[in-house]
Amino acid sequence: MTSAPAAKAARKDAALPLVGSTIDVARERELTLGAKVSHHFNAAGSALPTAAVVSAVVSHLRLEERVGGYEAAAQVKDRVEAVYGSAAALLGCDADEIALFDSASTGLRVLLDAFRPAPGSRIIASRSTYVSHALHLMTIQKEHGIDLVLAPTDAQRRVDLAALEALLADGRPTILTIAHVPTSSGLVEPVQEIGLLARRYDAGYLLDATQSVGHLEIDVARIGCHVLVTTGRKFLRAPRGTAFAFIERDCAAMLPPTAPDVRGSQWIRAFSWDVTGTARRFETWEAGIAGRLGLGVALDEASRRGIPETAEWLTSAGDVVRESLRAIPGVTIADPAGAASAIVTFLVDGVESAQVSAALADRQVRVVSVPATHGQWDLGDRAITSVVRASPHIYNDEDDISELLGGVAHIARQGGRP
Ligand SMILES: Cc1ncc(COP(=O)(O)O)c(C=O)c1O
Repeated sequence: MTSAPAAKAARKDAALPLVGSTIDVARERELTLGAKVSHHFNAAGSALPTAAVVSAVVSHLRLEERVGGYEAAAQVKDRVEAVYGSAAALLGCDADEIALFDSASTGLRVLLDAFRPAPGSRIIASRSTYVSHALHLMTIQKEHGIDLVLAPTDAQRRVDLAALEALLADGRPTILTIAHVPTSSGLVEPVQEIGLLARRYDAGYLLDATQSVGHLEIDVARIGCHVLVTTGRKFLRAPRGTAFAFIERDCAAMLPPTAPDVRGSQWIRAFSWDVTGTARRFETWEAGIAGRLGLGVALDEASRRGIPETAEWLTSAGDVVRESLRAIPGVTIADPAGAASAIVTFLVDGVESAQVSAALADRQVRVVSVPATHGQWDLGDRAITSVVRASPHIYNDEDDISELLGGVAHIARQGGRP
């Protein structure tokens, strides 16, 4: 049972320890309409966009209304081109190594297929793998006779590097697919160390950075991945239906798309076609141009804010939320020890996670319940049916955190009683 003083103490500890940070929370709140509407802790689902992002989308839709979709696209061609450069600047690569997609799942599917995993070869996947990618991997395993292996984990549930090296040392052709930060916990995989192993043992390395771009510092050269896929709508605060990938230049040249499209290929004779040499070979012609313009604005805002500063702020906010929740009697943190991101997962004694998130929504506190069906290799493996997930962003202030903690403490006190 939670005592009222305990809950109060937890709320009091909720100060964001970010004195000196260049992140200006008050200003971010001014720029973010949604920050005034609810206490939004669902950046890992879809973060609140700024007014400038929304305005870029809406203005383009208005232009399409007036002049038509193709004509509108022609007018903003240069701005759409600039999105590639903005994405590249954020990841530390060149613009021709960027491909735009409509979702991270599409990017992961298209790019994994491009590796053409052959019968008898092996895919090693992290336990942090997201549901849609895992289902694709299992389908390939079934239909193409691929050996699908889950990477062994260490005591903190991260990829066990020594065990991974022992697997790779057998010299079998291997693709490594790793989720940097999962949907289901605050874990952060040792992506750079995995990159060293991938390069040492000549394994293809595909990184799912859906939860980490805009959240943690990312430099693809330092990480050593061949491919990185991410989405726009989470920690980058871009519109829904936007995503992009980095494909290392030499790697892209060696991987023809399995489903070429007029965007990246040219049908030159009855039975032959040319494929462009850049990452755009993986794109489709059709795309939501309005969303891409919004993505460009969000990318530039993220760069201007500064990724190192944002990462520091977010991980500190994650720590504050995690440790304050841990102090509430009846609450158990579900993140593995060593969790170091702004994703915080927890359980409340005697109350289903979906009930917790519904009760918090009644107080305008937005979190979600993540079921094991979104991550069987993680939550299922830990015999957890669902967790509550709170994921702050730079527009969350102390009042938001206090409302979250107060709400959870109240729910924990009730313990599922009506
Ligand atoms: C780690 C991770 N990978 C991939 C995805 C899939 O992203 P999308 O919904 O854009 O396909 C998600 C979505 O939550 C995710 O959390």
